[in-house]
Formats: sequence, structure tokens, C-alpha cells
Amino acid sequence: SIERTLSIIKPDVIKKNQIGEIINVLEKKGLKIVGMKMVRLTPQLAETFYQEHNTKPFFKGMTEFMSNSPVVVICLEGENAIKLNREIMGATDPQEAKVGTIRRTYGESIDNANAVHGSDSPQAAAREIKLFFQEEEIF
Ligand code: CMP
Repeated sequence: SIERTLSIIKPDVIKKNQIGEIINVLEKKGLKIVGMKMVRLTPQLAETFYQEHNTKPFFKGMTEFMSNSPVVVICLEGENAIKLNREIMGATDPQEAKVGTIRRTYGESIDNANAVHGSDSPQAAAREIKLFFQEEEIF
């Protein structure tokens, strides 16, 4: 079915001037951009966004990394968009991600600088999209 999912281009990509390369990959693979903005997360929003990880040892470092500089948030739409985006991204650890995936190509380490985030379920996608987009900001 046609789904929407949330992608975040993380600070490591933005620092390397590679936003366009990531967007190019997503579009070439058939995902449609239906909402997009550059934002700097407040620490509070980063903590809310990653709430399911709040007991993990990397929680503090991750929320700091994500709120210390801007990110690009993108609402993507397409057939099986959630799973398709996860496949295009590759595994969380860039070293384990398959050749040709975004994280393999653009990621540096599992420890934050893994290029992109993608919603991992329909429930997560709905929650995450709502954190960043008003209904009228999605086209
Ligand atoms: P993401 O898919 O955005 O959601 C959870 C994030 O935790 C993951 O990407 C990683 O960037 C981040 N993270 C940081 N350190 C670790 C770690 N040691 N193991 C797994 N995820 C980590």
C-alpha cells in the first residue's frame, strides 16, 4: 500500500555538503518527497523523537549530536515506503550495511554519524511525521 515515512538527513551529511546526494538517491529509488524542511532540533525534541532509546547508553550522545546542528527532515511517500526506505538506507552500522546503501556510501560509524534516520514501522512513521510536520506542510 502507499505509505508515508520520515527520513532525517543527519548532521554528518550536512557538514560534508552531501544533502543533494542523499535526496538524489531517495528520488531515484522511487520515493516521492511530499514534505521537507531544514530544522535545528531542540534537545527536548531530540529526546522526544528518540524516546524509545532513552535507557540506552548512547542516548545522551545521540540526542546531543542530533540537536547540536541542523538536520533536514523529509516526509517520503510511495508503495511500501517504510520498508523501501529502510532497504535504501541499509543497516544501522555503515560497516554492516550492504554495498550501494546510503549508510554504506555516506555513513562513517554506528556512533551517530550514520548519515540518515528512517522510521522503522507504520506506528513510528505516523508519530515521527507528526513531530515535524503540520498536515498542511505535506503535499
Ligand atoms: P537511528 O536509526 O536514527 O535510530 C537509533 C540511532 O541510535 C541509530 O540511528 C544510531 O545512529 C544511534 N546510535 C548511536 N550509537 C549507537 C549504538 N551503539 N548502537 C545502535 N545505535 C546507535
